[in-house]
Amino acid sequence: MSITTARLRFRPFVSADHTWLHPIASDPVVTRYTDWGPNTVDDTTDFLADAATEGAGPSPWTWAVTQADGTGIGSASLDVVSAPHRRARIGYLVGPAHQGAGYGTEIATGLVSRAFDHHGIRRVEATCHPDNTASARVLEKAGLLLEGRMRSHLLARGAWRDSLLFATLDTDPRGGRDSRAP
Ligand SMILES: CC(C)(COP(=O)(O)OP(=O)(O)OC[C@H]1O[C@@H](n2cnc3c(N)ncnc32)[C@H](O)[C@@H]1OP(=O)(O)O)[C@@H](O)C(=O)NCCC(=O)NCCS
Repeated sequence: MSITTARLRFRPFVSADHTWLHPIASDPVVTRYTDWGPNTVDDTTDFLADAATEGAGPSPWTWAVTQADGTGIGSASLDVVSAPHRRARIGYLVGPAHQGAGYGTEIATGLVSRAFDHHGIRRVEATCHPDNTASARVLEKAGLLLEGRMRSHLLARGAWRDSLLFATLDTDPRGGRDSRAP
């Protein structure tokens, strides 16, 4: 199962992706706001093995995200956390070499569209670290609204961590709410 957006392709991970993914996933700056990493070589190998088993089965789905020429830039994930309640969660990662080019927003927007248009989802959620301003901005630009702050949401690297909760509904305006747009 693959997804194509204006500039990007989401495809299943393969073991050869270790070459470009590991330098990203082992970077402590990249993972400073995540609840995983920085990855060891084995962590990335295990991640790729897990991602490969997801295939065409039920969620969660995790994709490698590449540019049109096949260059790997990051990852995308979609998890239908409750099928009866038609609720899904998204996640994304963009490597430092490709940040600031709108790819994070393009990935999040693609995931939201996928959830609504292909999986009949009512509500798409995402969380981020309260200091992760880039991720919060990505979510806002992808059309998610800030709903609140979840206290002690994660136990990350031995410390309790709050998370911001964002969500959008299938009846909300698509394409985001860019408050800075003219
Ligand atoms: C968060 C992340 C996906 C953003 O990816 P990106 O491709 O740089 O995002 P975009 O280019 O679409 O930028 C989105 C917005 O964030 C802003 N932004 C980017 N980096 C920023 C930073 N370091 N500080 C503040 N704002 C930042 C951009 O300016 C843009 O807003 P604007 O259009 O109003 O100017 C990327 O930094 C990343 O993967 N970080 C590490 C992993 C992570 O935190 N994942 C999310 C977990 S919740």
